[in-house]
Amino acid sequence: MSLYTSTTQAVPAIGDVPRHIAIIMDGNGRWAKKRYLPRVAGHKSGVETVRTVIKACNERGIEYLTLFAFSSENWRRPPEEVSFLMGLFARALEDEVTKLHENGIRLRIVGDLSRFGPKLGEMIRRGEALTAGNHRLTLTIAANYGGRWDILQSIERMLAAQPEKRGNFQEADFAPHLAMAYAPEPDLFIRTGGEQRISNFLLWQLAYTEFYFTDLLWPDFDATVLDAAIASYRSRERRFGRTSEQLYVDREPRVTSVADETSPLIQGQDA
Ligand code: IPE
Ligand code: IPE
Ligand code: MG
Repeated sequence: MSLYTSTTQAVPAIGDVPRHIAIIMDGNGRWAKKRYLPRVAGHKSGVETVRTVIKACNERGIEYLTLFAFSSENWRRPPEEVSFLMGLFARALEDEVTKLHENGIRLRIVGDLSRFGPKLGEMIRRGEALTAGNHRLTLTIAANYGGRWDILQSIERMLAAQPEKRGNFQEADFAPHLAMAYAPEPDLFIRTGGEQRISNFLLWQLAYTEFYFTDLLWPDFDATVLDAAIASYRSRERRFGRTSEQLYVDREPRVTSVADETSPLIQGQDA
C-alpha cells in the first residue's frame, strides 16, 4: 500500500517535529583533509554521526529519516574510495541491523541495487525483512540513488501498469511507483558541508520541502544542530502556493485541498 501523499495534492500536517527528514550527509572528505587524514577517515567518522542522528530522530518521534549515502554519480570517484564506501556500507549493515531492530526501527534501502552484487543484495534483503514489522522510525538509506533514475524507473513502471492511460496520466498514477512511495514527502531537507544544491537527491519529492543548509561538515553534525534545523523548520510558513492570509482565518486553521481551490487551508491535517 502506498502512504505517499503529494504536497501538491494535499497539505501535510505540521507537528511539533517534521514527520520526514531527508539529509544529504556531505563534507566527510573535507573533515578528514582538515585533519591531514585520508578522505576515508572522514567516511568512517561519518558513520558515527549516522548512529547519533538515527538515535536522536527516534527519540524525537520523527517517523521517517532518509539519508543519502551514495549517489548514482559517486561511482565517478577514485575506485579505492568507492570500494571503501561499499565495504563500510556492508560492515554497517552487518553491525547495526540487530540494533536497529531492537530499537523498533524499520530499515529500507532505495536506489538501483542491481550494481551492488549478490552478497550485499542479500544483506539488504535480510535487513529489510528482519525489521519489516517495526513501526517507530523508518530509516531509509539511499544507496546508488539518483532522483533522475527514480523518476525514469517510475515512468517505466507507470506505463507498464496502465498502458491504456497514456495521454491522461496524473500525479497520482506516477507517485506510487517512486522508490519511496511508502513515505510522505520530506518536510525538512538538511544538507551539511556548505554546498547549497540537491545533487540529484529526491527530485520529485522535494517540491515543497523546507530546506536547511549548514556549513558544518557531516562528522561534526549532532543532535544540537538537528534541533536547530527542526526549530528553523517550525518557524517556516508553508503556503503550498497560497497566500499567507489564506492559511489562517480568525487565527483558526482552515482546511482545503487542491481540488477545492477557493477555500482557505489548514496547517494541521491532511486535506
Ligand atoms: C559525503 O562526503 C559522503 C559521500 C558522498 C559518500 P564527501 O565524501 O562528499 O565529502 P566532501 O564533500 O568531499 O568533503
Ligand atoms: C551528495 O554529495 C551525495 C551524498 C552525500 C551521498 P556529493 O559530495 O557527491 O555532491 P556534489 O558532488 O558535491 O554535488
Ligand atoms: Mg561531497
